[in-house]
Amino acid sequence: LEKNLILSFETSCDETSVAVIENGEKILSNIVATQIKSHQRFGGVVPEVASRHHIEQITGCINDALKQANVTYDELTAVAVTYGPGLVGALLIGVTAAKAVAWAHQLPLIPVNHLAGHIYAARLVKPILFPAMALVVSGGHTELVYMPEENRFEIIGETRDDAAGEAYDKIGRVLGINYPAGKQVDEMAHQGHDTFNFPRAMDQDDNFDFSFSGLKSAFINTVHHADQIHEQLNKQDLAASFQQAVVDVLADKTVRALHDYPVKQLILGGGVAANQGLRSRLEHEIQAFPQTTLMLVPLSLCGDNAAMIGAAGEMLYRHRVFADASLNADPGLEF
Ligand code: KG4
Ligand code: ZN
Repeated sequence: LEKNLILSFETSCDETSVAVIENGEKILSNIVATQIKSHQRFGGVVPEVASRHHIEQITGCINDALKQANVTYDELTAVAVTYGPGLVGALLIGVTAAKAVAWAHQLPLIPVNHLAGHIYAARLVKPILFPAMALVVSGGHTELVYMPEENRFEIIGETRDDAAGEAYDKIGRVLGINYPAGKQVDEMAHQGHDTFNFPRAMDQDDNFDFSFSGLKSAFINTVHHADQIHEQLNKQDLAASFQQAVVDVLADKTVRALHDYPVKQLILGGGVAANQGLRSRLEHEIQAFPQTTLMLVPLSLCGDNAAMIGAAGEMLYRHRVFADASLNADPGLEF
């Protein structure tokens, strides 16, 4: 079997990442330079700061990725890059770097959707079985994606307002937790109980959409009201109540989707896919679907990284999806 080696780039938000992936499934290297520290004092990602970091880090990441993989430019098959969705200035750094490498070394350039990357992170563990369903939950997205076959993505449901991770980060701030707050809120939640019974928006609606802004507001109002009357609320219980509400709607809508779209595999991907409450809830729910296997993207590949872009890129390579030097960043890219 012919071996292909893809050099992949991911710079859509606050991680500069370059990877080398063999045959779309094996990680030879996956360099991730995080900028979280630089954004923390602002309480979120500052686009201008992100772009500058990507510029400073990208060349070093390319060199490290090739060196760690023990691969030279001559051995590469193609270059893959996230071109959207994301921050336009941040995306542009990856797109420009990928174009430069592709042009200099006469390699095909593969344009990758960031969300396809989060889904194809699963491919780095084992082959995806179709038809498949993916729940992609991150700081910028909350989507249910139906994939009848390879390289076909149909969004059947999405958030109408905040993304799940965004809600975690915003309520985390109220709890005094640094950006990004998801992991710590998750840990706190495991030490508390759902005593607040926050709203589960749209949970019973006959669709696959989500809404988290009402939950976020309910949480913030509860904390502010307690502050005003000098009442001390239990932070662990607050976290547990918030998490239970998020997990309930994500799980209920996913189960609803599995009933309407019988699939061989359910993939959970994206930064929020690292959530322990969500992972164990889906492990429980999937038992009612013996024909569907659950693929939880490993924790190390849930957050933004270039390995997942290489995995999705290899699939596109086989489908002959290429871009030329006119490829531009597309911050609002949809499937
Ligand atoms: O996919 P990602 O790295 O970046 C985007 O594409 O947005 O996702 C980052 C998001 C942040 O909002 C972060 O708070 C959240 O993922 N996150 C979590 C957990 N770990 C990270 N949310 C809930 N529970 C976690 N364990
Ligand atoms: Zn992401």
